[in-house]
Formats: sequence, structure tokens, C-alpha cells
Amino acid sequence: MCGIAGYVGGKNAPVVLFDMLKRLEYRGYDSAGIAYVGEDGINIPKGKGKVDEVRASLNPESLMGQIGVGHTRWATHGVPSTVNAHPHTDCTGVFAVAHNGIIENFLELKDELEERGHSFKSETDTEVIAHLIEEYYDGDFLEAFAKALGKLKGSYAITALSTHHRDMILVARNESPLLIGLGEGENFIASDAPAFLGETKEAVILDDLEYGVVTAGNTAFYSLKSGRKLRKKHETLSWSFREAERGGYHHFMLKEVHEEPDAAVNALKGEKELRAVCDKISSCRRVYFVACGTAYHAGLYGKYLMERLGLAAEASIASEFRYSTAGSLNSECAVIAISQSGETADTIAAVKAAKARGAYTACIVNVVGSSLTRLCDDSAYTYSGPEIAVASTKAYIGQLVSVALLSLESAKKKMKLDEKDFLDYFDELKNIRERIQDILDSNEIRALAESEANTRTFFYLGRRENYPTALEGALKLKEISYVHAEGYAAGELKHGPLALMDETVTVLAIMPDDELKRKVESNISEIKARGAKVITVGVNKDIRIPKTYPIFAPILAIVPLHLFAYYISVLKGLDPDKPRNLAKSVTVE
Ligand code: M6R
Repeated sequence: MCGIAGYVGGKNAPVVLFDMLKRLEYRGYDSAGIAYVGEDGINIPKGKGKVDEVRASLNPESLMGQIGVGHTRWATHGVPSTVNAHPHTDCTGVFAVAHNGIIENFLELKDELEERGHSFKSETDTEVIAHLIEEYYDGDFLEAFAKALGKLKGSYAITALSTHHRDMILVARNESPLLIGLGEGENFIASDAPAFLGETKEAVILDDLEYGVVTAGNTAFYSLKSGRKLRKKHETLSWSFREAERGGYHHFMLKEVHEEPDAAVNALKGEKELRAVCDKISSCRRVYFVACGTAYHAGLYGKYLMERLGLAAEASIASEFRYSTAGSLNSECAVIAISQSGETADTIAAVKAAKARGAYTACIVNVVGSSLTRLCDDSAYTYSGPEIAVASTKAYIGQLVSVALLSLESAKKKMKLDEKDFLDYFDELKNIRERIQDILDSNEIRALAESEANTRTFFYLGRRENYPTALEGALKLKEISYVHAEGYAAGELKHGPLALMDETVTVLAIMPDDELKRKVESNISEIKARGAKVITVGVNKDIRIPKTYPIFAPILAIVPLHLFAYYISVLKGLDPDKPRNLAKSVTVE
């Protein structure tokens, strides 16, 4: 949530910063701004709206400076407005700060600072940081910055500038991601690597409670706990600039759906990492998949799959788990966090709670080096490549395949699956890529979306391992189309929602190719009898998916549902990449 950027080097910082913000826009897009040091001091052009709108109104090409910081916002404290847009300054305008996260004790700090004569301009929590630096500044910017950080409670990734120190940007991180991209005679700072991948793939990833100083030719990092200088590893990022580009597609979401075949096969690259996780969980009494949103649906699939294979597992929403189940864990439990970003605050908090109870923790994550991978005992990657659209699509496919592989490996290890069956399943997982490609090639979904573009209420129904598919199909539609859509366990319909069925409702029913088929058919008859329209999804159904083992059907069935949501959104004239009120990486509780 919120993207922050920084640049110091020979190029024109305002232009570089707006380019970087554009690549971070998926993190928040209600306002944007930059602070750069010009001849006359710090200038802060900023405004309400998406990055392109703000950029067009400010014309960064006409500005001049070689050092600056930038921010694209997802509002937490204070409405989206120019005054609340970052960066923020102290009373004198000598220090400027951009921040991602939440300063939990900002009201307390603000009161203290106001008593000492500071006056505030915005409603944000961030502004206290600039005033704290002003308060502590005695000629040493870094020291004042460290003292200010010492006062903060909460999560932050911070970049700070000063007119007194025109060659340096100060950076800090606690529970919000921050990377330094290392260039030749220039350095970049960003919440996420795609912001600078076109310039460099060498990076330093800050850990919690670390801070530092970045100049055009140097970097130095320190521990906030000990004050000691740190030797930070230089990492080479594997993602390419091209992967983070839209290519010829109208939207990132459409591009990413078309990358789903690759995402399926790439997830198999995590086999060795998943086997290591499997070795550890085999001695655990209970396995919990913990995640949020789409990733939670992948966890729910994992639960059903493990159970189908004779293993016990639970799936929990991270924000619930951390305040409930986590309290009853012990060292015989395993918690497997699933996350595209690896930065979701609730998922991180759930893992921390599990660790505090002595549970084994692992994560299935897409973003290499993200917070969850630093926190968990073991990590397995989905290798889906950068996912930019707010709506998660290809990462979900990667998560499903990873979870399937983990479940199969676990079942084999626990002798619930013999070697031959394991290999049959594994071979089919390798073939999933082609099956997804067949769905994408069939090109049927846009016409269907056109016929449903004015429907006001959708239900998505599924049973067992396709119940998560129903939840995910509905989430995707409501997220990017703002249409009411509910995912339901098909058998539950008659316990309430059947009362809503009439000719205004469309139901998408995921039809299994197994012994539950008849049950869903009965549910469909009940719906049709009440006048609602039913669209079936399955082998030889209205929306056709290729045949596979029923336990893998969710990996296929979701693909047309992703496309369906995409086309409905586009037909409504919306931007599916940047749905209102949302941000890709939810780094606040
Ligand atoms: O990065 P994560 O996978 O941890 O994110 C979890 C959810 O915020 C995310 O899946 C969200 O539900 C998506 N926008 C859904 O498309």
C-alpha cells in the first residue's frame, strides 16, 4: 500500500521519479507527488489523482534536480487530497519525507510536537516524521533521522531528503518493503523492484528496523537496534524489465491471464523447495494454510486437496487466524502462509503469532526476498514473475500448482499415495500448461461477458475443491467490476440464498466431472425452477474446460472466470488494473 521511490544520480530526478511511480502505481493511486532538491531548496509538486493525471498537471520535464523522493498513495490517514499527498515537510521546509505504512502513535507524537511549537499542514500520520527530524536536527541528518525513527511505533518504509545535505537520501524500513537498486553513479530506492528493473537488477533489500544513507555513488546501512553498521548482501534480481511491462496488451490483467500457462509450469520449479517444506510438515500434527483474499482461496484448495489425499489440514483467513487459532498452536503444528507479495500485513502477523507459539512456519510466495521469506523457517516460490494488476490471476495459478505439488508430496511421504499414482498426477500437472492454453485459445468468453454485462447479481457455486473456485470467481468479478457477486458452496444455497433467485440473477455453476456431478445438477434444477439463469463451467459445459483429474479442475476452471471478470470490467468502461479503493499489496492491518 503506497509506493515510494527515490533517485539520486546524473539524470533529471523529477522525470525518473514519475517513471518509477508509474511502475509502483498498483500499490496505491489516489494521489501522487515528488520532492526534489532544486537550486532554491526542496520543491514538492503533488496532487490528487492517478500518477498520469498528476504528472500531466505538473509536467516534470520542466523541472530540474538530481535528487528526489516520490510517493503514490493509498490513503489511510486523511482523505485523498493535494495537502495529504506525500511527500510531507517539517515547519521550515528543510526536510521532506515520503512514507508507506502506518505510524500508530502519531497522534501522541503530534500532540508533543505541537506543544513544542510545530505546526502541521496535513491530516496524515507521516508528517510527524518530518517534524521529528526537524526537532532532533543538530547538523547531522542521519543522527536526527535515527532519533526520529526511535520514536515511531508501527510500520514504515521511509525516504527522507534535506536541503542541508543535497547529495543524500535517507531510508528506513520496518514491516513495509524497501529496496535500493544499485546503478552506475546513480541509485534508486523503491517499494518494489519493477520500479527500477529497467535500470538495474542489482539491489539491496532492507530488513526490518534497518536504516541507511544512499548517495549517487555509495550506500551505508545500519541496525536501528544496535546502531551498528551492517554489511548488506547485494542481490541480483531474477525478474526482467520486459516481464513488468504491459507488452501489446490493453491491461496488465489481460497480459497476466495470458501468462497463466507459464505460471502453471513455472510453479513446478519450486519442487525442491516444496519437498523441503513437506519433510518438515510430515512430523506435524496439523497443517494450517493461512492467507488473505485470493491467496486464501489457494489455501482452501490446499485443505480440500490434502483431505482428499487422506491428510489433515485447515485453511484460515490470516486476519482471523492471528486472533483465534494462533493462540492454540504449539511446536507440533505447521503454518504455511501463501502470498503473492509476501508483504501482506495480516499474513505476516499470523506467521509471527505462529512462531511465537513455537510452530513450524513456511511460505509459498511469489516475490523473492519479500518479508514473509525472511520471516518463515522455509520458503517455496511460485516463480510466477511480476504481477502488476491489482487483481491476482497468474499468481493464483502458481499458488494452486504449488499447493497441489506440496499436497501430493506430503501424501506420498505419508504413504497415502503410491509412487505410480504420484507420478501420474505429477505428469498431469506438467500438462496443465497446455490445458490452460486451450482455454485461452478458445476465445469464447468475451461474447458471454457481452451477454451478461448488465446483470446486477451473480452467484458462483462450487463443491469441495471447486468451492474455492466459486469464491475466487466471485471475488474477481466484484473486485474489478463493482458488481454484486457471491461465491457459495453449492449445497448451502437451499439454506438461505435460494430466496434471492429470480430472473435478474445469473449463476455460474462449476460442474465437477466426478461423483458430485449429480449433486450440483440438482442444485441447478432448484435454481432454474426459480427463474435464475445458469451458466455451467466444466468439461463439455457452457464454459468449456479440458478434462483433467478432478482434483486439478480448479486450476483450469478459474481461467475462464478470470477472463469473464476482466471482460465485464472492460465492457463497463472500468480500469481492471486499478480497481477503486484497493491496492495490490495490503501492508496495513
Ligand atoms: O500479496 P498477497 O497474495 O498476500 O495478497 C493477498 C490479497 O490481498 C490479494 O490476493 C487480493 O485479494 C487480490 N487483490 C485479489 O485479486
